Amino acid sequence: LLTVDTTHPGPGVSTELGGIFFEDINHSGEGGLYAELVNNRSFMAAATPLHWSAVGAATLTIDTAQPLNSALTQSLRVNVTQAGGGVANEGFWGIPVRPSTTYRASLYAKSTGGTGGLTVSLTGTDGRVYATGTTGPLTGSWHKHELTLRTAPGAPTTADARLTVTSPAPGTLWLSQVSLFPPTYKNRPNGLRVDLMEKLAALQPAFLRFPGGNYLEGNVVADRFDWKKTIGPVEQRPGHSNSAWGYWSTDGLGLPEYLQMTEDLGCMPLLCVYAGYSLRGDHVTGDALKPFVQDAVDQIEYITGPTTSPWGARRAADGHPAPFPLQYVEIGNEDWFDRSGSYEERYAAFHDAIKARFPALKLIATTPVASRPYDLIDEHYYQSAAAFQAGSHKYDRRDRTGPKVFVGEWAAQEGRPTPDLNAALGDASWLVGLIRNSDQVLMESYAPLFSHVRDNTWATNLIAYDALTSYNSPSYYAQQLLLTRRGTVVLPTAVRALPGLNVVTTHDPATRRILLAVVNTSGSARRTTITLRGVARTEASASVVVLAGASPQATNTLTDPLAVLPRGGTVNGVAPTFTATFGPYSVTVLEVRTL
Ligand code: AHR
Repeated sequence: LLTVDTTHPGPGVSTELGGIFFEDINHSGEGGLYAELVNNRSFMAAATPLHWSAVGAATLTIDTAQPLNSALTQSLRVNVTQAGGGVANEGFWGIPVRPSTTYRASLYAKSTGGTGGLTVSLTGTDGRVYATGTTGPLTGSWHKHELTLRTAPGAPTTADARLTVTSPAPGTLWLSQVSLFPPTYKNRPNGLRVDLMEKLAALQPAFLRFPGGNYLEGNVVADRFDWKKTIGPVEQRPGHSNSAWGYWSTDGLGLPEYLQMTEDLGCMPLLCVYAGYSLRGDHVTGDALKPFVQDAVDQIEYITGPTTSPWGARRAADGHPAPFPLQYVEIGNEDWFDRSGSYEERYAAFHDAIKARFPALKLIATTPVASRPYDLIDEHYYQSAAAFQAGSHKYDRRDRTGPKVFVGEWAAQEGRPTPDLNAALGDASWLVGLIRNSDQVLMESYAPLFSHVRDNTWATNLIAYDALTSYNSPSYYAQQLLLTRRGTVVLPTAVRALPGLNVVTTHDPATRRILLAVVNTSGSARRTTITLRGVARTEASASVVVLAGASPQATNTLTDPLAVLPRGGTVNGVAPTFTATFGPYSVTVLEVRTL
């Protein structure tokens, strides 16, 4: 029996509940969301020309004596010994090529003299040229060359391509900041990958938590997300070692790009500031912490300050005069790992400085502190699918007088690189519990969001992709279903004698809709009587959307991306008391209209 009580509505559903958490893990940024196609474009990733190889008669070395500027202190020296020699970049497991597509290429180059224009091409590994252009002649000084490369209508769709830069004559030349962009989301220069942004936009997120996670902290202090090095022209960003996840970050996806992303998704920024703790246990206290606190205050000024403020002016110079609507700042990440106990002092220092300058901002602590208040506590849960299926009622039992919660990272870990249906049922069970308790859990974001299929360092992720295509996991669809089809008020719902069912009912009084969300984690269909107590009349049919699959292990993949998909339908015979069936291994949202 399922009894919904419309006479005693529960709490309002938090309008900020469903967000997304982005960090550069599994090549989520570099080679993922950040649309740059050249891998190690700045030659700063290593002392060797990582991801570059010689074309024809040429030798390549990293040169520290010919920097482009004080940020890009290494360049690529290319000794071409025969005409046609040069270099190739392999991209991030290939460079994607599509027919009738325009790419923006740019590079800085110089030569010892006598080298004519360079040929810049998208070239198949079999030598076929898909698009090509030529720079102006090189000189002895650094000069930026920009080209448009356009593929023909008959070009194939393939990731089996490289970017080649070749010289018409022998000689020595240097390259720096070699870049190639496909069309980007909303055509932003230095922008983001279209298919991945479309997938995020379809989730209608309330906020974007960024930039991490372990990525924020780095293994050591020097590898933190040092935001001041991630703004301004991209060729003036040195990049840094993403030591937490094992690859180089150009920081082309820097603070301005994250902020632009929030605007393009129509969501709030939720900024995580580096708080003086890194993963291997480095922690900064006392006077040494002051510059980090100042960095956070400056960062908030960059995001929210007027253009008359020093950092607000820098934001305007970076192309965005209007401030961004920042409301939440998280101090650090997972500071329960800091066994030294320094978070108490560090949180207090950040709290006091931020509240003094920006009193309206809400602060999020990552582990409880005693000496200062916090608006939310960020809790993280990575568990088995079974634990989430059983844990749907965790927050029902919460002490209602405690601090409000941001579940900033959570995921049922089953499936690689993305969750299977069983994990999605765990995720959905957990999420209906969060919605039911959204007077306590004000915000939530699943993690991680993305994995490149060729760098699946963290096993279970919401969305996966290769250089060309991407797909959504069953869990993506479960979350989209539950978060986009919900009302504004929770209605108490009693569930009796229905093992394996996790339920939340919400009501949207403005549209007279009651939305019954039911997760059936069992392998049997559950047919039950539903009573809408307090409802006199309903429309006779209800719309229904169901996510289900052939088995709990059913999943989506790059080659079979639509195996587990939500499907819409209609339920007839709806009344204040009616019967409905919830299929095995399914997530259902039933939308009843009252009259
Ligand atoms: O989401 C992956 C990692 O899990 C995050 O970087 C970290 O915050 C957590 O431990």
